[in-house]
Amino acid sequence: MVKIRINRVTKVKYPLDIVWDNAQDYVHFVHTHPKQIRAMQVIFDNSNIQIFLYKSLVLPYLPFSRTFLAIRVLDRENFLYKQIYMDTDSGRKIYYHLSLEQDGDFVLTHNKYIIEVPKLVSYFPSLFAKFVNFRFSSMWQEDLEIQKTRNLVGGFDNDTCAPEIHTLYDEALEEYEDVWSGKKGPVTKIYEFEETFLENKD
Ligand SMILES: [Fe+2]
Repeated sequence: MVKIRINRVTKVKYPLDIVWDNAQDYVHFVHTHPKQIRAMQVIFDNSNIQIFLYKSLVLPYLPFSRTFLAIRVLDRENFLYKQIYMDTDSGRKIYYHLSLEQDGDFVLTHNKYIIEVPKLVSYFPSLFAKFVNFRFSSMWQEDLEIQKTRNLVGGFDNDTCAPEIHTLYDEALEEYEDVWSGKKGPVTKIYEFEETFLENKD
């Protein structure tokens, strides 16, 4: 398996708890990052462990997506977490480490990724790394809006204005109805079977 390592440091001037609040929050994914994330679904969250599914667009606005299962283990006291993302189609994984560090007036977010990539990508790793960096960078720029707002009105617990999000459950249900109603095309053939069981055989 070909693996590529990417290290990114993001430097912002918001307080540590606001940056952490944003970093560990998945509720904002769909409405803050619509170019990257189409839908998400929380499977488990006991505060120290978060497990969720999300659908990520390969390129903004184009209808190609990948679904990832993310398992995140948080160390809240030390402002860090470890996360594995698994592409549910290919099985390829991303091993992600996030940690925050106060540096004078700034908070540094250290993002480290080990990304399993298809063999084809190993022929142009630098282009791939630049593309990934570009996408993460645009997400961080979108996140700044959250940090700015939460710095003014409060953090993650203040969720009164959180909009409804499109979940993978909604998507699955829509697809289910579309298949059964024939909206997604007719079935090729229908086969019928029937069997009868006789009770008290002996
Ligand atoms: Fe974000």
